[in-house]
Order: sequence, then structure tokens, then C-alpha cells
Amino acid sequence: MTEKHLEGVYIIETECFSHPWSKQSLENELNNETSHFFVAVEEGEVIGYIGMSAVIDEGYIFNVAVRENFRKKGVATALINELVTFGKKNNFSFITLEVRESNEPAKSLYSKFGFIKAGERKNYYSSPTENAILMTKFFSNQ
Ligand SMILES: CC(C)(COP(=O)(O)OP(=O)(O)OC[C@H]1O[C@@H](n2cnc3c(N)ncnc32)[C@H](O)[C@@H]1OP(=O)(O)O)[C@@H](O)C(=O)NCCC(=O)NCCS
Repeated sequence: MTEKHLEGVYIIETECFSHPWSKQSLENELNNETSHFFVAVEEGEVIGYIGMSAVIDEGYIFNVAVRENFRKKGVATALINELVTFGKKNNFSFITLEVRESNEPAKSLYSKFGFIKAGERKNYYSSPTENAILMTKFFSNQ
């Protein structure tokens, strides 16, 4: 992600999440050395993105989202592939994330990549209130 993608990523954030990142927060990530954002672009338009924080050998996914009209075409798969490749190159121990308990598309997507349920946080999300499922992909298992 570079500055020219900020608006597109922000639009996806507001479309997909009840507590979207502000444009300023996204912009701050451009200068954060531990943050890694990848975008999927079609005909100049941002159609998906993924963001992760890397702490030594650990990856923490912030969010992955794809514009509604471009879903079920493998865009999120391509984005997660980027992160997994990054993780392998950088000898990560694991990549982890939280997901809403009811978000079956996302849970199914992560399972395909070998993320397994690693825990649960009661009432972690608001608007609406919902449990978070922690899912982790361990690289040492491969
Ligand atoms: C979850 C999301 C990122 C998937 O993006 P996508 O580009 O449509 O995903 P892909 O086309 O790469 O699909 C990969 C896998 O995800 C799962 N998946 C995607 N959409 C699904 C759906 N509607 N129902 C069930 N599983 C689904 C499937 O396992 C799929 O594999 P398959 O095609 O072999 O069945 C997208 O639905 C989205 O942006 N949702 C809103 C934002 C969100 O909830 N993000 C996750 C926050 S933790």
C-alpha cells in the first residue's frame, strides 16, 4: 500500500466494518516499519487489502477485506498468500488474528490456509456485540 491507495482502502473499510479505521490511522501505518499492508488493484481501483503487524517472528493480521462485487474470485486468497510468503521468508513462528464468531466466509478462508482455532474472547466486538475467535497458523507445523 502506498499513499495513492489510502482512499480505496478507506472506502473498503467503511463498507465492511462497523468500526472502520480512519484515513489518518491508515496513513500512519505507511510510516510504521512493523506494519505491512498489501492491496489488490484492478484497473486502478483498490478491490481488496490485507494488513498485518510483524513483531519479531510473529504476525498479527489487522484486517482483510474485499469489495463486495469482487468477492468469491480468489482475491482474499491472493492477499493471504502474500502474507504467508512474507511469513515464510521472514521465518515467522505464527500468524494470528481475531474474527467474529459468525463470520463463516472469513473463518473458512483462514481454515483453508491452515489457521486453527487457538482461543476465544467473549464479547470482544461491539456493534453488534459478539465473541472473537482467535485463529493461528503455526509455521513450525509445516
Ligand atoms: C472474507 C473475505 C475477505 C473473503 O474474500 P474473497 O476474495 O471473496 O475470498 P476468496 O474468493 O479468496 O475465497 C477463498 C475462500 O474463502 C471462503 N469464502 C469466501 N467467501 C465465502 C462465502 N461467502 N461463504 C463461505 N466461504 C467463503 C471459502 O473457503 C473460499 O474458498 P473456496 O472458493 O474454495 O470455497 C470477504 O468475504 C470479505 O471482504 N468480507 C468482509 C470483510 C471481512 O469480514 N473480513 C474478515 C475480517 S476478520
